[in-house]
Parts: sequence; structure tokens; C-alpha cells
Amino acid sequence: MTMDVVRVELGARAYEVRIGPGLIGRAGAEVAPLLRRKRVAIVTDETVAARHLAALEAAFAAQGITSVSLALPAGEATKGWPQFARCVEWLLEQKVERRDVVVAFGGGVIGDLVGFAAAVLRRGVRFVQIPTTLLAQVDSSVGGKTGINTAQGKNLVGAFHQPSLVLADIAALETLPPRDFLAGYGEVVKYGLLGDAGFFDWLEGHAADLAQDAAKRQRAVLRSVQMKAEIVARDETEEGDRALLNLGHTFCHALEKATGYSDRLLHGEGVAIGCALAFELSQRLGLCSQEAPSRVRAHLRAMGMKVDLADIAGDLPGAEALLGLMAQDKKVVDGRLRFILTRGIGDAFVADDVPGDVVKTLLQDALAQR
Ligand SMILES: NC(=O)c1ccc[n+]([C@@H]2O[C@H](COP(=O)([O-])OP(=O)(O)OC[C@H]3O[C@@H](n4cnc5c(N)ncnc54)[C@H](O)[C@@H]3O)[C@@H](O)[C@H]2O)c1
Repeated sequence: MTMDVVRVELGARAYEVRIGPGLIGRAGAEVAPLLRRKRVAIVTDETVAARHLAALEAAFAAQGITSVSLALPAGEATKGWPQFARCVEWLLEQKVERRDVVVAFGGGVIGDLVGFAAAVLRRGVRFVQIPTTLLAQVDSSVGGKTGINTAQGKNLVGAFHQPSLVLADIAALETLPPRDFLAGYGEVVKYGLLGDAGFFDWLEGHAADLAQDAAKRQRAVLRSVQMKAEIVARDETEEGDRALLNLGHTFCHALEKATGYSDRLLHGEGVAIGCALAFELSQRLGLCSQEAPSRVRAHLRAMGMKVDLADIAGDLPGAEALLGLMAQDKKVVDGRLRFILTRGIGDAFVADDVPGDVVKTLLQDALAQR
């Protein structure tokens, strides 16, 4: 299988996303042209380290590149001040300099945290993303949003810092647990839903094969990255269109907060539920046909994904409290809730004027089904 390349067109900060099997094994050759000295610092998590770090280190060694590595604990809890401080201090101890390159090797947690560390280390060093989850390959490794969570909420501290290169090794996804793979699929399906009905059609026919079929997996990652790259190039800092990528996310962030960012609900699972709710909301507002939300739900169900609030184990707060959590979301503009709504599959738009009572009734109905 050949490698696909997507360019993120950001002028002086433009970079390539290379997608294909075996890229970890070729990382030394891929990264070498960026290096001013033959040395890299790799930051990963313990789970990824156990499965893939030896291969990455060997790939660098094969090109005469020395590597040092730090493995942080796996999981969302790592994406906070304590591990961030540990990471930055480790990079300083390793004497990483302004002209060096840091490698973020893992899922979205590592990519976001290490990207932010690279953004602030010595006022900014270059970094390479080597994403190892489906979610990170199709979404978080591309576009330069980096950051960490705080007690006040998710992703509230961070920076825009674009990577210099992204290497998405689709073979690395073969060791991903099925639940994490499906959660990442929540972001894949989001691209079809927000802007490419043809892609959604294709996913309906082929998505069940993605975990097993490398060629189809590559096609799904490629199309997702193309869409993300195109939107980011149009609106790097989310003044407008980039907000479309948040389809389902206002609901998702409230649900993640309500479930304590725990195993009860993974981010991509919340995105899938949020997309289903965003379509339902759009239909209730008379923006899209009744068929659209049914089709979205049917596909997510067929994939074995979480679709309803009833699919989240344990207690959830009431509709009023969930609405309150949404209002705390950072996508609030001048106190009004902002939603990404749709006129149909593949036709999302940003709405700032959604009546709160319609959202509340929607949540009440969704909670009543539990
Ligand atoms: N920056 C952005 O634009 C952006 C976009 C979407 C999501 N995010 C962030 O991404 C994070 C979620 O990312 P995630 O879902 O990748 O989570 P994650 O990084 O926690 O990875 C999920 C789990 O998979 C394990 N893992 C990773 N690669 C593996 C592999 N190849 N084989 C086996 N196990 C592997 C990890 O150790 C972890 O336990 C959230 O913090 C979210 O806010 C950021």
C-alpha cells in the first residue's frame, strides 16, 4: 500500500500529514530532514511505550539519530498540570534546545500535552506528531490545538502550535483496544456528517471493516485528514468555519464533565452521542428532515457505538444541570449557547441563536428514555 500525503496549507507553518502502514518503522528517515543535530526527545505514554517504542527507537537509531524517551501514565488524567510540569522539566533536563525537535508519540492525550510543552519550552520548539490512536490520526494530531485540562474544565489552558510533521502509521492502530478504536470512529463519522455526505454514504457501507481492512482504514483516515486540513487552512484559530469541527461537542463536553472525564464515557463516544443529539435538535428546529437523525442513529447503532444517554452507565444530572454545564463550555459567545446544527447529512453550520427551551426539552426527552 502506498503512502498518502496531505498538506496543511498554513504559509510559513505549512506541514505534511503522511498516512500509511509502517511509518513508525520509517520514522528516522521521515524526520531526519527536520533535524539540525541527530537527536530527538520522545514523549509517550506507558501503554504505547510497551507496544511500539522499541520500533520507533530502532527506526531513529537506524538513521544514526540518538533518542531519549519519557513514558507518562496512560489516560486523560495525565493531561493536567502535574504531568505537564514533569514533561517540560524532563525536556529541559534533556537539554532540548530551540532548534531541536520533540516527538509526541501516542494518542490525543500525549499529542495535546506534548504539543503544549513544545509550544512553551524555550518559547517554542518544533515538534512532530506520531499519533497512535484513530482519534489522534484523524483529528487531534492535525491543526495545532494543544493544551491541558484544569479543575475548571477541559482544554482550558493551551496554545495554537502547529507540528512540523505528522506521521500517521495506520498499522499501529491494530493494537488499539476495540473500545478506543470505536471512540475514534466517532470523530471519523463526524467529518461525513458535517461536510461530506458522500463520505458518510461510503462509511455506511464500509465502516464495519475498518478495524480489519487496512486499505479501507487508510481511506477513512485520509478523507478525515483532508477535511480537517482544509478547514484548518481556512480558519486556523477558530474565528469561523473551524467551529464546524465541534459538531456534537457542546453536548459531548457537558456529558464528559457530568461523568467526570472517566471510563464511563470516552471523548469519541461523547462525540457520537453529541452528533446524534445535534441532528435531533436540528430536526426539532425544522432545519433538517426527520430521516436525517434516524439515519445517523441507525449507523452508529450498527457500528455498536453509544448513541443515547441511556448508553452511559450510572447516574446523570438532570436537563437543567446539563444545560448549565453546556453554558460553561468555552464555545459560549457573549453568554449565548453556540451549537453546530445541520440542514442534513454533510451540511453543518454554526448557530449562535438556539432557543434554550428547545435544548432543555430535548435533554429532558433524552433523559426520560434512560
Ligand atoms: N487537539 C485537538 O484538536 C483534539 C481533537 C480531538 C480530541 N482531542 C483530545 O484527545 C484526547 C483523546 O485522545 P485519545 O482518544 O487518543 O486518548 P488517549 O491518548 O488517552 O488514548 C487512548 C488509550 O489508547 C492507548 N493507546 C494509544 N495508542 C495505542 C495503540 N496503538 N495500541 C494500544 N493502545 C494504545 C493509550 O495508552 C490510552 O490508554 C482528549 O484529551 C481530547 O480532548 C484533541
